[in-house]
Amino acid sequence: MLIDSHAHLDMPDYDGDREEVLKRAAAAGVCAVVNVGFNRASSLGAIGLAESHSSVYCAVGVHPHDAKEFGERDLDRYRSMLAGPKTVAVGEIGLDFYRDLSPRPLQREVFRTFIRLAREVQKPIIVHDRDAHDEVVEILKAEKAREVGGVLHCFSGDWLMARECLNMGFLISFAGPLTYRGSTRLVEVARMAPKDMIMVETDCPYLTPQPFRGKRNEPAFVVRVAEELARVRSIPFERAAEITLANTRRLFRIE
Ligand code: NI
Repeated sequence: MLIDSHAHLDMPDYDGDREEVLKRAAAAGVCAVVNVGFNRASSLGAIGLAESHSSVYCAVGVHPHDAKEFGERDLDRYRSMLAGPKTVAVGEIGLDFYRDLSPRPLQREVFRTFIRLAREVQKPIIVHDRDAHDEVVEILKAEKAREVGGVLHCFSGDWLMARECLNMGFLISFAGPLTYRGSTRLVEVARMAPKDMIMVETDCPYLTPQPFRGKRNEPAFVVRVAEELARVRSIPFERAAEITLANTRRLFRIE
């Protein structure tokens, strides 16, 4: 059994077959999915999905792409969304200096605001980092994110960065890119990270693992990520599943 620790099933990509996608996940051994919000509408969508499906949990937050839409007055709305019984984390939040869809000063401010909120409500954070490794680590430190911990989702840094995050108590989550050719740096991290600090995810509908690359991604495909993790760590698949399941449940306090 596995948990897909990061999915976006609220997106319109699944409007035609959401229930079938969840059934396929269950049939593939994916016993739970954490659906992660990226703005207000998708955070509400994530909560709705979690309320209507026993196997779905959710996180609420503002993605760096959407930082420009966020206003201080929205904070109370997020605070109440975080009180829901199936809301297990604050996320996704972070910095994206690759696409720069929101101005960087705003990205930084919103990231900081949500780390503070996470500390207030004592829930872990789900961090998105693209081409912003140094600043992400700097802000995690400055805002004392260690107090609540969390996960670097779809990790894309090197071992040096991984070690810094691990030292702060953050877990590292692997997605489809682990199955792509030429991911030498990522493979190194997947090999070296301690076994109680790793998770798997799809980040669907994006980042479809091999051999399905080019198709829409879905939680059932997290099996491929776990298979690859098992391969690079030279452990049986069942062991990789067992470890990542336990880590995900511990971080998100999923029964
Ligand atoms: Ni995501």
